[in-house]
Amino acid sequence: MGIKDLKLNDMLLDAVADINGDDRDFRMAVFFIVFNPLFWNIVAQVEYKTHFLTRLAGGARRGCYALAFVIFSLGLVRDYYFSRALKNQVTTAWLDQDAVRYAGAGLFVFGQVLVLSSMWRLGVTGTYLGDYFGILMEDRVTSFPFNVSDNPMYQGSTLTFLGTSLYYGKAAGVFAALLVNLMYTMALKLEEPFTAMIYAKRDEERAQKAK
Ligand SMILES: *[C@@H]1O[C@H](CO)[C@@H](O)[C@H](O)[C@H]1NC(C)=O
Repeated sequence: MGIKDLKLNDMLLDAVADINGDDRDFRMAVFFIVFNPLFWNIVAQVEYKTHFLTRLAGGARRGCYALAFVIFSLGLVRDYYFSRALKNQVTTAWLDQDAVRYAGAGLFVFGQVLVLSSMWRLGVTGTYLGDYFGILMEDRVTSFPFNVSDNPMYQGSTLTFLGTSLYYGKAAGVFAALLVNLMYTMALKLEEPFTAMIYAKRDEERAQKAK
């Protein structure tokens, strides 16, 4: 190992040592980062199989809006604990510099652009699992932000967490951002095949009708 590697190792160890795992707000943030995607995937699967939300709300669209409201609220709770945790956590010395702050601010802004433009393009039902309710988009959206990111909602959200954490120089936040990324990667493993299946089904049905 060269001098450079040793130094990088020390920097990583320093950052990890700065994470206070006993902090209650940090634990709550971690809990909601893990819980939220599990929650919406399970609810959406049950909705697809039983249409319980459609029946409860009296319509697919209303059911989807209700789920969107719950998911959005859970996101706010997660963000609340995350921002409290950032305040409690130690600032890592080598992250506490202007270059890191600029990079953090840039990632935050880019992440928000991805999230907001994605929502703008997809609308509420496109953003919040409408396909599980049988609400499908006419065509796959390929314009910005979908020409720079496969999953602008998830990638943008991850970048927002990472950017905020770097801006404040908090290793605990960077850890949380990595966890967000892991959870979204797992969520996509469930959601992408489902979405592909449901659109393939529709196209098949349309082809049948056209015959
Ligand atoms: C993505 O599309 C936007 C317009 O919607 C365009 O300005 C931008 O250059 C495109 N980016 C890439 C990487 O194709």
